[in-house]
Amino acid sequence: MSNLYPNLFQPITIGGRTLKNRIMSAPNMLFQVVNGRPTDYYVGYLEHKAKGGAAIVNLGEVPVIRGGNHTPFIELIPENLNIFGEIADAIKEHGALASIELTHCGRKGRPWINKQLKGPNTEITENGIFCEAMTEKDMDEVVTAFANAAEYAVSAGFDMALIHAGHSWLLEQFLSPLVNKRTDEYGGSLENRMRFPLRVLKAIRDRVGNKLIIALRISGSERAEGGFTPCGYGGILKQSRRVC
Ligand SMILES: Cc1cc2nc3c(=O)[nH]c(=O)nc-3n(C[C@H](O)[C@H](O)[C@H](O)COP(=O)(O)O)c2cc1C
Repeated sequence: MSNLYPNLFQPITIGGRTLKNRIMSAPNMLFQVVNGRPTDYYVGYLEHKAKGGAAIVNLGEVPVIRGGNHTPFIELIPENLNIFGEIADAIKEHGALASIELTHCGRKGRPWINKQLKGPNTEITENGIFCEAMTEKDMDEVVTAFANAAEYAVSAGFDMALIHAGHSWLLEQFLSPLVNKRTDEYGGSLENRMRFPLRVLKAIRDRVGNKLIIALRISGSERAEGGFTPCGYGGILKQSRRVC
């Protein structure tokens, strides 16, 4: 393995922080929330990943705003910073950097949790749920929510924010040529479809400066006709297999 990946266990400095190796543990949702707190089991699970030697340990999906969640969650708000701080500390105690994944589910919410879904388009989704197209004001609100969340993450002691733009959540919904049917400056060309996710990234950077490493999680391929692939977009599996 050392021949295949000679740098895997070498340190690297990103955004002024030194990672002890190149291993980042994949985010897993804060799925065990009891009485508004993560269970000791869940915190221990993250702590074990840090003990195991990963350079970065990710706390999975934390929605940036009510309505952006698809499961019950702990709100990332000043009142809860002690809870998020405990998680960051548990990770950092073992020499790993603590990362928090910030997300919004957009059109993929669930009617029993989200009163009104909002996403790129006004439509009935494939799950038979009415979704309303986000207005410029809705977008401003979500952009600000991402920036607020990043600021709270800094206060709670996190080193990195992983912005979720994959897995069919809101930012991917804007990026996707299959999903995004907008005819304004947020739809159509790749440049237009990137506009909203880029606004989110810029707002976060403007708010927190270099206090956080900012990373973006994107899906490599939508694996659907007309969706994006590692090679651009247009084809499906056979295109994904093409040598790029
Ligand atoms: C129970 C479970 C929860 C997950 N939660 C998240 C999450 O919160 N955010 C995310 O980006 N990916 C999440 N994932 C996807 C993982 O990060 C990872 O991409 C996936 O498990 C594939 O990696 P693997 O082959 O090593 O399991 C989750 C996966 C599982 C199985």
